[in-house]
Amino acid sequence: MALPSQVSPPDIALSDAAPIRVASAAAVAVPVLRDGSSIALGPGAAELFDELDLDVFELLERQDASGEAGEIVEHVVLSAEGLSNPDLKVVLFVGVGEGTPTDLRCAGAALARRTKGQDTVATSLAALTDDAGMRALVEGLVLGSFGFHRRSAGPKETPVAKVVLAGIPDADERRQALARGVAVAEAAWMARALSLVPSNEKNPRWMADRAAEVATSAGLKIRVWDEKELAAEGFGGLVGVGKASTTPPCLIRLDYTPRRTTRQTRHVVLVGKGITFDTGGLSIKSADGMMNMKRDMTGGGVVLAVMGALADVDCPVRVTGLVPCAENAVGADALRPGDVVRHYGGRTSEVTNTDAEGRLVLADAMAYACSEIEPEALVDIATLTGAIKIALGQQTGGLFANDDALADLLRVAGAAAGEPLWRMPLAEDYEDRLESKVADSDNAAGGPGAITAALFLQHFAGSFPWAHLDIASVGDSPIDSAEWTLGATGFGARALLHWLELSEPLDGVGT
Ligand code: BES
Ligand code: MN
Ligand code: ZN
Repeated sequence: MALPSQVSPPDIALSDAAPIRVASAAAVAVPVLRDGSSIALGPGAAELFDELDLDVFELLERQDASGEAGEIVEHVVLSAEGLSNPDLKVVLFVGVGEGTPTDLRCAGAALARRTKGQDTVATSLAALTDDAGMRALVEGLVLGSFGFHRRSAGPKETPVAKVVLAGIPDADERRQALARGVAVAEAAWMARALSLVPSNEKNPRWMADRAAEVATSAGLKIRVWDEKELAAEGFGGLVGVGKASTTPPCLIRLDYTPRRTTRQTRHVVLVGKGITFDTGGLSIKSADGMMNMKRDMTGGGVVLAVMGALADVDCPVRVTGLVPCAENAVGADALRPGDVVRHYGGRTSEVTNTDAEGRLVLADAMAYACSEIEPEALVDIATLTGAIKIALGQQTGGLFANDDALADLLRVAGAAAGEPLWRMPLAEDYEDRLESKVADSDNAAGGPGAITAALFLQHFAGSFPWAHLDIASVGDSPIDSAEWTLGATGFGARALLHWLELSEPLDGVGT
């Protein structure tokens, strides 16, 4: 699909040739492994020595190479005379540590950064590993290339156009793993790009337009509720949060059906917070606190990106994606502290803080999912609380769940995908803090903030297996590091796809 960004991820191909024999590659990259305190060269190096007169070990020693994942030592090829690839200009020795998936993800990202702007790179990094390692490498190559801009003169940098994963003798057998890796990495790319679109372009209507594109390209069913339909059907939280904006709220529903279904085919619902800008409302944020709030639709963007990739990873269950979209604006018609909203299905919330808007819109979508879809698992994802960032820092997402099997499946998927999740408690001890003098609950029950937010949402999950991902901690990367690029992360797209591509994503759930 057309990504809302002006640079595209690299094209990734497989080849059985040694990297030095890949035609027209200006750069060749071979792995350097760490082996205790010494280093070892990986596949692709022997063919290199056949053609280049190069004392690699002296080079690596003089550069103090350790083989640490992501380290790169460069050798400039001064003359291409006698080489099978006359275009070769540089050989890169890329550290891959112990060769774990995490190491390869980091190495792939480092290689992508180093080769920005180039045409073709050939590398034997994938020849070292199994499918899991190759997929991690691909995630690194794609996401380390990520860029986004709105510069009049075009992008500052462009990703490498093409990466050839060379030295793969069984290329035919590995094509499917490559395709899945690319689909997952590009979904994460899309989630990042959606989050970075400025809010003078991105409003609820814009989100619905992107959802329509996803539906068309991935063959999904779509329904979008406008503000009148929302009011008529009782989505009071979403209507309330969105009503001060000049761009009205909407609810997006996308439906994926797997290729093969039976009466036993199970149904998962994903709900993503789609606040296209969060001023805080009348409980207004500080200028600093508002700075990155165009990204408050990250959960919703992740859900759109995941829905678009389900067929590519051959997800075996039905999946419905719900994205309640609204701009939390300031205006004469804004929600006031003390207002009471009535959610879908009838539960009421007293709005003691208009900046706790995410839970108000998620509540409506979750209640709708429980009454209309009755899912076998309900998972919401949201940049919900500043408190989760204080609890977990900026590299771990918060995971709450009322079902141990679902929690474990998500935690394991997150670890495999490079998106670590840490389980937090739905501690009953704090339930009394949600009490309101006038309504069923208070939307801003106080500390511990991430837990009371999750407890608020739990009331809208009914008795269905439910997990809540609070990604306010990880929605934003403070630095370029491995596959993370400074700014929006699209966190959650990889974890959810690694989960939903399992042959039994609901194994043990609800039992
Ligand atoms: N969108 C914010 C949470 C957030 C904070 C995301 C920082 C990313 C970075 C959310 O709507 C919010 O404002 N939460 C409040 C809740 C409070 C008023 C109960 C918060 O965490 O301060
Ligand atoms: Mn808020
Ligand atoms: Zn918010």
